Amino acid sequence: MNLQLVDLTNQYRKIKPEIDEAVHSVLDSGQFVLGKFVSEFEQNTAKYLGIKHAIGCASGTDALQVALMALGIGPGDEVITTSFTFVATVETIALIGAKPVYVDIKQDTFNIDSAKIEAAITKNTKAIIPVHLYGHSADMDPIIAIAKKHNLKIIEDTAQAMGAEYLSRGIEENDSDADNERKYPTGKWRKVGTIGDIGCISFFPSKNLGAYGDAGMCVTNDDTLADKLRMIIVHGSKFRYHHELLGVNSRLDAMQAAILDVKLKYLDEWNSERLRAAKFYNKLFEGTAATTPKTASYSNHIFHQYTLRVPRRDGLTNYLKSKNIPFGIYYPIPLHRQKAYLHFAPIDLNLPVTEQMTKEVISLPMHTELTDEMQNYISDEVKSFLCQKL
Ligand SMILES: Cc1ncc(COP(=O)(O)O)c(C=O)c1O
Repeated sequence: MNLQLVDLTNQYRKIKPEIDEAVHSVLDSGQFVLGKFVSEFEQNTAKYLGIKHAIGCASGTDALQVALMALGIGPGDEVITTSFTFVATVETIALIGAKPVYVDIKQDTFNIDSAKIEAAITKNTKAIIPVHLYGHSADMDPIIAIAKKHNLKIIEDTAQAMGAEYLSRGIEENDSDADNERKYPTGKWRKVGTIGDIGCISFFPSKNLGAYGDAGMCVTNDDTLADKLRMIIVHGSKFRYHHELLGVNSRLDAMQAAILDVKLKYLDEWNSERLRAAKFYNKLFEGTAATTPKTASYSNHIFHQYTLRVPRRDGLTNYLKSKNIPFGIYYPIPLHRQKAYLHFAPIDLNLPVTEQMTKEVISLPMHTELTDEMQNYISDEVKSFLCQKL
């Protein structure tokens, strides 16, 4: 059986005529950077997410960096996030000269444990970056309440969660802050990335909405921030050769925008496919030693990854290798233990859940082309290992 962790080729085959036509339109237009294809995709994405501004850029990593720059975060500032995430979340904080401060995660959702955020706040804290890991929303209500109380900005790392939604249950009993620009209606499902000050999306090919190369986006409801973001991605300029802000070169390329615009139409259908496959896996693993992923009542899960927690994880990975079953470990080493970031980790840093998860998690093939036959085969092998006597 030809199993893949992510199957982009067969997905492409299904929509080949539309993609090929979009690519040819860009070639015919001679407009390869920014321009109408980028604007159209930005508008369609903003509409899909229900947000005012969508600003394309070159990658999810750049989206995080330019978001931090737009919020004026820099040397001496601290940004709270987790250590159980892709390196880009922390790399970009470090790149702009700020300090990442780690808070532990919750065992059930793998996302930031908001009950532990306040203890990490100092006079230098400027922002929180919740990561909607694996496609499951972080619990945003308490994060918003903390951000309001301490005047902090929120950047949502939505790299893995394009299309996921969050249900706000209300943040404060007596929220009388009528002048606050940010209104958080309760009982309303909203797309993640649209809840904090800026949402940062990755369109890396393997993401639920994946380009055929690198691409990313910042989204915001704030007009001033949107203006700044638009300038920062083109060398800090609004008018050519007039540089008002420190910027970078991080433009979304037209070819990727045209491809993504085609794929955006399929996103909800594909996310539903993943949900179906995840539910089937859950059923197949019922009654085994594997802990299947939970979906909190406040989140719908788009299953960017289908991640189990298992005993004897390293034994299982060796077993799956011997059976040619692909898998992923996201993430085997927490960021506070990575050589490049050791200096950010205080000596008494205690992240027990993060440490535990790095030893237990394993992600199984998850994509839109999975068949029941494939899932039966994969789960049979996982179960056969889990049942082995030691
Ligand atoms: C949580 C998270 N943040 C940021 C990124 C960076 O996105 P990109 O690869 O598009 O730069 C990724 C990509 O894998 C990610 O998973």
